[in-house]
Amino acid sequence: MAEFTLPANSKIVEGKQYRDTTSGHLRTVQIYRWDPDNGIGVGNLPRVDTYEVDVDACGPMVLDVICHIKDTIDSTLTFRRSCREGICGSCSMNINGVNTLACLQSSAEIKKDIKIYPLPHMSVIKDLVVDMNHFYAQYASIEPWLKTTDEAPARERLQSEEDRQKLDGLYECILCACCSTSCPSYWWNGDRYLGPAALLQSYRWLADSRDQAEDERLTQLDDAFKLYRCHTIMNCTKACPKGLNPAKAIAKIKKRIIRKES
Ligand code: SF4
Ligand code: SF4
Ligand code: FES
Repeated sequence: MAEFTLPANSKIVEGKQYRDTTSGHLRTVQIYRWDPDNGIGVGNLPRVDTYEVDVDACGPMVLDVICHIKDTIDSTLTFRRSCREGICGSCSMNINGVNTLACLQSSAEIKKDIKIYPLPHMSVIKDLVVDMNHFYAQYASIEPWLKTTDEAPARERLQSEEDRQKLDGLYECILCACCSTSCPSYWWNGDRYLGPAALLQSYRWLADSRDQAEDERLTQLDDAFKLYRCHTIMNCTKACPKGLNPAKAIAKIKKRIIRKES
């Protein structure tokens, strides 16, 4: 029988142990660490550091715990965050096996030890920071802006309330990538499959009554890899921390293509 082993530089080893100086309610927090500044290869394997954190000294969310670690225990920990209220999309990470926003995940709701990893199947730049360049390039490729062919009106392009409501469940996407990085099709074909985030964004423009480029957009998407790698596994919808439904948006794109062709 064939035996499979991870490449030597893909193994995660046990890291350092830290303990808070105060002794309130201590909780164990394990965090993935990798720093390319220390070299690349077997001499610098990724590790999981363990922190005993006084959660009484932290705010309620996992992001508060991470900030507390950086501020008071280990300033070398690297992660992204900005708004701390689920708007900027920068604190997306994998917490206890689920892709989510650290600022929206309550630490008290996690009953076991807290385990934090970068978004899966993304190249790690450092610790919890992943390379989003390809993800953003895919977003840019769907041309996420209003496209029109008629002459610009003197004032703004108006939309009825009813048409505006068609954008609900789409415009709220914050491009956190929790959905795309939980999609098995995106893991294996992310170089060519656009993934649920870019496709939901694409549908956001298809659904906009003011946009006049439906045919062009659908022709761009009608591709075995860009769109049809979605096999309706639904991990994306389950993962979205904003409660959006990328799988439904993808199904609607497919429907529009069928309608266009019939
Ligand atoms: S429904 Fe499509 S996009 Fe969503 S997880 Fe499944 S394959 Fe990926
Ligand atoms: S659809 Fe949801 S999970 Fe996906 S990028 Fe947008 S906000 Fe994040
Ligand atoms: S810090 Fe902005 S979404 Fe979490």
